[in-house]
Amino acid sequence: MGGGYSNVAPFYDKLSQLIYGKALIRSQVYLLPFIPANAHVLIVGGGTGWILEEISKIHPQGLTITYVEVAGKMLNLSCERDIAKNNVTFINNTVEDVKDLSAVDVIITSFLFDNFLPATVTRVFEHLHQLLKPGGIWLNTDFQLTGKWWQNMLLKSMLLFFRMLCGIESKQLPDMTMHFNHYNYTILSQKTFFGEFIKATAYQKKI
Ligand SMILES: C[S@@+](CC[C@H](N)C(=O)[O-])C[C@H]1O[C@@H](n2cnc3c(N)ncnc32)[C@H](O)[C@@H]1O
Repeated sequence: MGGGYSNVAPFYDKLSQLIYGKALIRSQVYLLPFIPANAHVLIVGGGTGWILEEISKIHPQGLTITYVEVAGKMLNLSCERDIAKNNVTFINNTVEDVKDLSAVDVIITSFLFDNFLPATVTRVFEHLHQLLKPGGIWLNTDFQLTGKWWQNMLLKSMLLFFRMLCGIESKQLPDMTMHFNHYNYTILSQKTFFGEFIKATAYQKKI
């Protein structure tokens, strides 16, 4: 089915809150204090864009934000968000195909990599790694399996649901720790949510 996440844009946030309550929001908001004032922030796959409003509550001005989202309907919703006095450039494309992005201080990827097959994970990760300045901050949130029986069941049903409705490729979770370790990222802070099923990590790139 074409359309990707545009197919679920009108009800994506309501559906995720039905399943996870506020955990998806709390896990991402937990990382936002790591954004320095006046930073250039790259948000990849920001969905309906609620994160723009949360960021703008902490930094009502001074940020330059590049917001890349491939689903047209998700991007349209994001454009309506209150960004206070920050400067946001919206780009409707897959991030790996946007070639003229300048280097950034902060990257935000939330529930992005778990959509991809391993080859795409590597391609997107390396593209973003090149865009992050030395010493830059990468805020990543994803699902993880820690051995609880219900996690695997929930993950499988979620991946199947989004494969049928949005055509996502992934059938299992990627090992993101391996990718961050490979480039010697330092963990500044990490916290789990929703019975350890969600992991939010603030990484710093090597200087
Ligand atoms: C699971 S949703 C998460 C949305 C949001 N981050 C959140 O937590 O509410 C993944 C989002 O990433 C977008 N996306 C997927 N692949 C992408 C890519 N290669 N480049 C940019 N956006 C992408 C999808 O369109 C979708 O809106």
